[in-house]
Amino acid sequence: MKQVTQVSQLKQEIADARANGKRIAFVPTMGALHDGHLSLVDQVRTEENFVVASIFVNPLQFNDPSDYENYPQSLGVDARLLSDRGVDVLFLPEPETVYPEQPNLITPEQIETNVSLGLEGEHRPGHFSGVLTVVSRLFDLITPDIAAFGKKDAQQLALIRSLVSHQLASGRRMPLKIIAGETIRDDHGLALSSRNARLDSEQLEIARTINVALASCDGKADVEAAIGEAKSLLSDEIKLDYLEIVDPATFEPVSGDYEGSAIALFAGYVGQVRLIDNREISIKGS
Ligand code: PAJ
Repeated sequence: MKQVTQVSQLKQEIADARANGKRIAFVPTMGALHDGHLSLVDQVRTEENFVVASIFVNPLQFNDPSDYENYPQSLGVDARLLSDRGVDVLFLPEPETVYPEQPNLITPEQIETNVSLGLEGEHRPGHFSGVLTVVSRLFDLITPDIAAFGKKDAQQLALIRSLVSHQLASGRRMPLKIIAGETIRDDHGLALSSRNARLDSEQLEIARTINVALASCDGKADVEAAIGEAKSLLSDEIKLDYLEIVDPATFEPVSGDYEGSAIALFAGYVGQVRLIDNREISIKGS
């Protein structure tokens, strides 16, 4: 695996891979890697693909400065994990490489989607503009044919799909296939997250109630009752931002008499650490 920091080196590696008949597959991350990130690499690592991973802690997407300052970093270990997993190039840009000039922010409004309005969009102002801006910029630099994102960040994944469709329709981008990876969990069902590294053992126990609560929503007849029961299963130590059941297409809360597939989503704080998780569920109706 080659580690590159400069755009010129990156472009050369990509041009060489294309000249060898390879497709470019991209896995963007912010580092502090775990099996969730690595499962995305596994999904795109095939004979025909040249796999580029990136580690860039994107300042634009942190609405909370202390979250940015405390974001875990483990570059040496990360590089070894990616190399062992068969990544071809690890792109490690500096902020001035990604943003050589003040970026024109790509806002969710510009890509004409309502998916951003609630949930993370409401609780983390500016976050999705930061995500869309960096992802679009990285796509411009890497020109991937395929890019992989996790369902763990379900709303982010939906927005990135909207970004790509919008840019394709306006001729701004070449075809790009977005691949979705299942959420990888620990043995107790806790979704793996780089931020879990900031939890002590007691907080880990508290965080493990999140998945229990979300999973309890599956198969319920009534949306309100499902949310009520799920909240009662969450540890009292959690400071809840939201626990909602939404339509998978719009991310808008479903009405009480809804029947069919839905997503139950959670966001909240365990101590100082903000965690999110979600589960695909089915509401049976009465
Ligand atoms: P980061 O949180 O590092 O996550 C990188 C990718 O790993 C995302 O696509 C995320 O959904 C996925 N991921 C995280 N935890 C996972 C888990 N437990 N199982 C499966 N996949 C998981 O998401 C970001 O970085 C950034 O917003 C980024 C897209 C890189 C833009 O800066």
